[in-house]
Amino acid sequence: MNKTSVEESATDKGTLNEYEKHYFTSYDHYGIHEEMLQDSVRTLSYRNAIVQNKDLFKDKIVLDVGCGTGILSMFAAKNGAKHVIGVDMSSIIEMAREIVSLNGFSDKITLLRGKLEDVELPFPKVDIIISEWMGYFLLYESMLDTVLYARDHYLVENGLIFPDKCSIHIAGIEDSQYKDEKLNYWQDVYGFDYTPFVPLVKREPLVDTVEHGAVNTTKQKLIEFDLNKISVADLAFKASFKLNVKTQDFINGLVAWFDIEFPAPKGKKPVTFSTGAHAPYTHWKQTVFYLEDDLEAEPNDTLSGRLVCTPNKTNNRDLDITIDYQFKANGPDGKERSRRNKNSFLMH
Ligand SMILES: C[S@@+](CC[C@H](N)C(=O)[O-])C[C@H]1O[C@@H](n2cnc3c(N)ncnc32)[C@H](O)[C@@H]1O
Repeated sequence: MNKTSVEESATDKGTLNEYEKHYFTSYDHYGIHEEMLQDSVRTLSYRNAIVQNKDLFKDKIVLDVGCGTGILSMFAAKNGAKHVIGVDMSSIIEMAREIVSLNGFSDKITLLRGKLEDVELPFPKVDIIISEWMGYFLLYESMLDTVLYARDHYLVENGLIFPDKCSIHIAGIEDSQYKDEKLNYWQDVYGFDYTPFVPLVKREPLVDTVEHGAVNTTKQKLIEFDLNKISVADLAFKASFKLNVKTQDFINGLVAWFDIEFPAPKGKKPVTFSTGAHAPYTHWKQTVFYLEDDLEAEPNDTLSGRLVCTPNKTNNRDLDITIDYQFKANGPDGKERSRRNKNSFLMH
């Protein structure tokens, strides 16, 4: 049975709204897949987790949600899965068909083009879901909604999700020079005042690599998600934080990152990876939220607050994030150094 012959998409692209069209088109080009494949922390973590769980994959039906070039489908097929169904809305799936065939997996992997929410699977239920759905700040792109849809519609009771645990973390950073450059640039652009851009720049979180040495507070887990249990509504969340200052330094912003964990056989350490500044580079880098104030911090001062994250109402793949913070400075000049403020961000 050759399940990889060219088929029509289950979703007519013409019916998608402009945001969805743009989103799926961004995955048509091979460049974005090249970047993901070359992220060896990411790709090898999936492979290691599947290899470590070979016994669990043996003779199982596996669903690869958003299969892209088919890499996770082939890891699963190579490691004992009875059959893998890979689903993707983007045209990259046509390359996945060629690659799967070229590598001799056509009889083990069925590739379906369309939105996961629209395709008809050749099996009523699957034993395992694999998916690489994570976006910047974990939730940007909202692809987790689709994985939860797949779980609720297709996963057998007690089926497994790879990965199944994730968490978001934050800490304070000193980043005066870069923050200054980013904001001050607009003061004088070839002799012209471009400051109307400043509020826009301030609203946008920055995705970039942060040096671990820039982190100058304690770190804190903001929230964790167990994919076996959560619902889409849980992805709009509020979380409080309290960070202790470690050195005498400016705090110019907060850095956020996420950690990922895969299921593990009983008694074995799970495969995990982190996208934090302390960990090896990944294409997710870190996300920086510059604060309204540059806080003059000293050891034992505290930066506490609340982060609220919700999908944007116009485009639910974007995120509205607000951060309320209270910086409580101690010592004789504590009152002057203390600050309280609120920043609103749009991640898009
Ligand atoms: C982050 S990429 C991962 C690709 C591949 N699994 C890998 O690990 O290299 C996510 C893929 O999911 C697809 N995708 C996102 N939402 C989808 C949906 N609702 N239905 C089908 N495909 C979707 C995108 O087109 C994209 O190719």
